[in-house]
Amino acid sequence: MSSAILLAQAGRAENLSIFDPASPQAGAIRDLAFVVLAITVVIFLLVEGVLLYSIVRFRHTKTVNATEPPQVYGSHAIEIAWTVAPALIVLVLILVVARTEWEVQKDPPAPKAGDNALYVTVAGRQWWWEYRYDYYNGDKLNFVTANELHVPASDADASGVQRPVYLTLLSADVCHSFWVPRLAGKTDLLPGRTNKMWFQTAERGLFLGQCAEFCGTQHAKMLIRVNVDAPADFEKWYKNEQGDARTPVATNVQAGQAMFFKQSCVNCHRIQGTTANGTYAPDLTHLMSRQTLASGIMPNTAENLRLWVADPQKIKPGCLMPAFGLSSQEVDGIVAYLRSLE
Ligand code: CUA
Repeated sequence: MSSAILLAQAGRAENLSIFDPASPQAGAIRDLAFVVLAITVVIFLLVEGVLLYSIVRFRHTKTVNATEPPQVYGSHAIEIAWTVAPALIVLVLILVVARTEWEVQKDPPAPKAGDNALYVTVAGRQWWWEYRYDYYNGDKLNFVTANELHVPASDADASGVQRPVYLTLLSADVCHSFWVPRLAGKTDLLPGRTNKMWFQTAERGLFLGQCAEFCGTQHAKMLIRVNVDAPADFEKWYKNEQGDARTPVATNVQAGQAMFFKQSCVNCHRIQGTTANGTYAPDLTHLMSRQTLASGIMPNTAENLRLWVADPQKIKPGCLMPAFGLSSQEVDGIVAYLRSLE
């Protein structure tokens, strides 16, 4: 049920085809796939053609060795042809791949005012994504969110303004791989190593992706959502994200906040503007600005949040958040507080 709702919200986002690129980077990879496919199809047809021809042409030959073909030894011409032809094919493949790599994996320029570029550091974690927003248009952003990336669209209203998105990819634990097929190729996030990727797109909307490197039992539930917003919407979104968490007003929410701070939630989660300063788990400062929970696996509803807070191990067995044995009043209170974090 939950995934049907997510896909309905997503519209075209369920399209995960590399053959329908929405960015120049994904387009370059699609074109490369066609070139490699064309070369290998020609080789396949040649080899299989000769095979079929031989089968048909000699199918009436009953006795083995009855018409043994002439045996050729030590022919320099044939040996050179056998060596040079495949070497040339491999060389062509290397060159086209290198050209595409050059296009899609260039090092990002340093952030500067007026560049319209977004810089985000992505950390892969078991099993969710941490996004540290570093710079936009030369301004330092300095906030953290999780699982749902927001980026501005290029060329909004045909202005021609390009808004490249530069990602720095790190891992906090094991190998992961960031893959949003319609926006960019797969790039791994490896412990102790920094990888880069970039993309830009004029197509607004939601793009889905997936961790593409087996990273443990919940690897399949490490989903990615990229929202490509109109630049004005993106600015509104990030200005809200930059702010501290809202202070509760309603008494039940205040009571819920007290329960949250009495539990060990604060050791792992961060809520900006409060004493909750953990860095092991998703930042909750603006939890309600996210559409989904637990790395895109279910809609962010009160009911799902209650299930998650009560026992995350039922939903994502093996995840690092244990069930704390909360009473149902405590669950209600904590959920009321979390639901206030817009
Ligand atoms: Cu992270 Cu697979």
